[in-house]
Amino acid sequence: MTGDRSTPLESLETPALVIDVARLERNLERWQRYCDEAGLANRPHVKTHKSIEIARRQVALGARGITCQKLGEAEVMVEAGIDDVLIPYNLLGNGKLERLSSLLGRARISVSVDDVRLLVGLAAAARTAGRELEVSVECDTGMGRAGVQSPEAAVELAAVIARADGLRFGGFVTYPAPAGAAAFLQAAVDGARACGLEVPVVSAGGTPGMWHARELMPTVTEYRAGTYAFHDRATVAAGAAGLEDVAVTVHATVASRPTRDRAIVDAGSKALAYDPGPGSGHGLILEAQGSVIETLTEEHGHVRVCAPDRLELGDRVRIVPNHVCVVSNLFDEFWVARDGAAVGRWPVAARGRSQ
Ligand SMILES: Cc1ncc(COP(=O)(O)O)c(C=O)c1O
Repeated sequence: MTGDRSTPLESLETPALVIDVARLERNLERWQRYCDEAGLANRPHVKTHKSIEIARRQVALGARGITCQKLGEAEVMVEAGIDDVLIPYNLLGNGKLERLSSLLGRARISVSVDDVRLLVGLAAAARTAGRELEVSVECDTGMGRAGVQSPEAAVELAAVIARADGLRFGGFVTYPAPAGAAAFLQAAVDGARACGLEVPVVSAGGTPGMWHARELMPTVTEYRAGTYAFHDRATVAAGAAGLEDVAVTVHATVASRPTRDRAIVDAGSKALAYDPGPGSGHGLILEAQGSVIETLTEEHGHVRVCAPDRLELGDRVRIVPNHVCVVSNLFDEFWVARDGAAVGRWPVAARGRSQ
């Protein structure tokens, strides 16, 4: 933590990204306890915070390793000493394969694929590193994003991975885990075993469904949650947390009061991001919950002020983002708050590492 003296939160310049560290710790501990009691491996997704300090806390509490969506995030985390990273994303292209190869020499890295054509490059990266690469099969169990489309296709790809020189079959991964995911994954596991394959890990993820993860067991053996560290308006609306669990808010100032029912806060799209909310507006103003952040321009949040909210010029507010993961990526650092005061700063170390 950057060594700042304790600073009253009201004197932070805005917009500022502020972590309530006691809530963060409680969120991390609760989820780790759930996983430990269930016998489920916890592999938190660091895309939410992109912070070395938080990743280290997650590992210290008992996470099996971490998940990174991007090689760039993985490079930052491995450099910081995290030694077990899953990248559940197709990696292709010479530049990325070279970077994968160099990471493989430094940590336990595993990846996932949904296409047999990716295996040649991965095998070459493993060969260059002189290490075996663990490769899982990404399964589309209902989200409609990447992933093989059926358990049969998953088994077919698993068998090719298992035969490929330099690669080891790691299991199956999916995101999130909609109804039917467990049946899809179990069919894939049964099919793989029928071909004589061992299935070391079956990994699902997502904060909205985290408290139902037990229901996916014993098929699922590992869970990847990201947003659970902070929570946001979306995960509160999904019932995974209450507002009292939200650990990160954007602190902003009412910078203009041009009409009776319009306030402008100094957090626009470059501080709150555009992700749609579960309700109306671009975030929830804790001090003015009946008012709505109707529009964002780059530096302005346009608030429709509804009585009895007041929002006077110069008032400071805390805004719960709709989707906190994209908001972390907009700031260089978190202010770390304890007992109502900022006690330090943590860099958003993997901020912008989108390649
Ligand atoms: C592959 C993968 N795993 C895990 C997660 C974590 O999801 P959440 O932030 O809802 O916990 C995500 C989120 O986008 C994801 O894409």
